[in-house]
Amino acid sequence: MDPASLAKTLIVELEGEVIGDLMLAVEDAWAQTEIAQQAQGALADLGWVLHPDHAGHGYATEAVRELIRLCFEDLGLRRVTANCFADNTASWRLMERVGMRRETYAVKESLHRSGEWLDTMGYGLLA
Ligand SMILES: CC(C)(COP(=O)(O)OP(=O)(O)OC[C@H]1O[C@@H](n2cnc3c(N)ncnc32)[C@H](O)[C@@H]1OP(=O)(O)O)[C@@H](O)C(=O)NCCC(=O)NCCS
Repeated sequence: MDPASLAKTLIVELEGEVIGDLMLAVEDAWAQTEIAQQAQGALADLGWVLHPDHAGHGYATEAVRELIRLCFEDLGLRRVTANCFADNTASWRLMERVGMRRETYAVKESLHRSGEWLDTMGYGLLA
């Protein structure tokens, strides 16, 4: 893994075994030029992967809840976002379980490794 992505990665452990990882990428919010400094580092883009052997027990939900707590309480961010392919039911169900709001639906926005352009959904949550 390259150092830049490692710096944004948190691991999910279950009894000492790594069962997944989370991404936390702090970003600047869009702002008008005169005020752009105040929008620096105001939001985070989040991501998650769980080993399939450990799916279906709520571990990702627990980890993402803690990730969101960390963003708002420890880092003081004002907004978190995450995206998924529209057909990634496990991922958007997870986002809705942790209280994130579906904010965008984009048609054929992102390229899947199959070579197909797929619809995506964007979720967000304010502190
Ligand atoms: C997205 C992903 C992390 C979700 O994993 P998951 O196993 O569904 O999520 P959880 O570990 O939170 O488990 C939740 C499931 O367990 C069930 N569950 C059982 N016990 C539970 C508990 N104590 N608490 C919460 N959920 C529980 C839930 O009902 C839910 O199942 P359902 O969606 O059928 O209702 C996983 O599918 C994954 O890694 N996918 C591949 C990578 C990926 O697509 N990442 C996202 C890219 S945008």
